[in-house]
Amino acid sequence: ANALKIAVIAGDGIGKEVMPEGLRVLRAAAERFGLDITFDEFPFSSWDYYEQHGRMLPVDWKDQIGGHDAIYFGAVGWPEKIADHVSLWGSLLLFRREFDQYVNLRPVRLMPGVPSPLAGRKPGDIDFYVVRENTEGEYSSIGGRMFEGTEREVVVQETVMSRVGVDRILRFAFELARRTPKKHLTSATKSNGIAITMPYWDERVEAMAKHYPDVKWDKYHIDILTAHFVLNPQRFNVVVASNLFGDILSDLGPACTGTIGIAPSGNINPAGDFPSLFEPVHGSAPDIAGQGIANPVGQIWAGAMMLDHLGHAQAAAAIVRAIEEVLAQKPLRTRDLGGLADTETCGAAIADAVARSADRAAIPA
Ligand code: NAD
Ligand code: IPM
Ligand code: MN
Repeated sequence: ANALKIAVIAGDGIGKEVMPEGLRVLRAAAERFGLDITFDEFPFSSWDYYEQHGRMLPVDWKDQIGGHDAIYFGAVGWPEKIADHVSLWGSLLLFRREFDQYVNLRPVRLMPGVPSPLAGRKPGDIDFYVVRENTEGEYSSIGGRMFEGTEREVVVQETVMSRVGVDRILRFAFELARRTPKKHLTSATKSNGIAITMPYWDERVEAMAKHYPDVKWDKYHIDILTAHFVLNPQRFNVVVASNLFGDILSDLGPACTGTIGIAPSGNINPAGDFPSLFEPVHGSAPDIAGQGIANPVGQIWAGAMMLDHLGHAQAAAAIVRAIEEVLAQKPLRTRDLGGLADTETCGAAIADAVARSADRAAIPA
């Protein structure tokens, strides 16, 4: 097997607690499936690094992690020490842009045995992907503040949608939809109120859909779309959205599956000219950091997405199966899922299940 080099950045808060569990499971998978993986850990993209160096990243960060096969990321942000927009634009958002990770792929799945906060929902009822545009849109640094400190103070921030930027995320989403059994796509819009960029988005969706006659598609304004996430989640298969709408939908979706703590995220550069980055959807969770109770599943599932992306589908599937097996057992789930386990107990149980799963996988198909 060819050697994989992974850049590991734990970051802040519970990032430092869930990352060891992610690595534990990846090491178990490597052992069982004979993968040669090297993990290089980096201290930057954290408030403690910032406190020491006055910046979130070293000047040569691109050289340090740009040559790796992928980046395995925890979470960043510690608002008590450093303003969020400073830490985020100084690290994670920079990675996404500079490495052109224009797809943010976020699966949403109700797992067997896990209670949904939505009454009567069972696995299969909630099982879709949020495909979030990840490099432009509402997340722009174009704008400014005028008449600062006076009563005439005005702030302006522009939304940027380029044809290349919109078309490439739509193409990815339609391609993904085409490969799923349901062949269905939903577009998130707000072209009634946001009267320039969102009608443009709709126009590009319509144009792209013509290339995918086999994919059925619909669109909803973001307000009612959030309502349908809660009331009719079974409607969704692939949901494509702009940067901000995708951000919101990718917390709401997982919340409907019990917790945002299990949700993974692939920040993907499909061309492969720079490494892709895999992380949980959640953040550094200052409110529970340091207690050892964070759910490690988002981090672990992100590790599975990373292996899948790097061509190790069998090892990735084994991790997802192990997650399902462990989440079905209340004593092994963390508290956000009504369980009893701490971070390490849950992570170790999944690693254990991965180690055992290889025996099944070794049976010739
Ligand atoms: P958050 O995702 O950190 O936490 C939101 C809520 O969910 C909290 O109550 C938290 O305890 C809970 N939660 C999150 N992950 C959990 C887990 N694995 N297990 C159990 N409970 C979990 O969002 P926030 O509070 O809005 O942000 C906190 C910090 O994280 C901020 O600095 C924010 O900017 C940053 N953030 C970073 C990322 C990222 O690195 N990708 C994502 C979101 C937020
Ligand atoms: C996420 C996070 C980030 C985002 C924040 C921390 C900037 O919420 O990864 O979903 O909005 O993309
Ligand atoms: Mn988010």
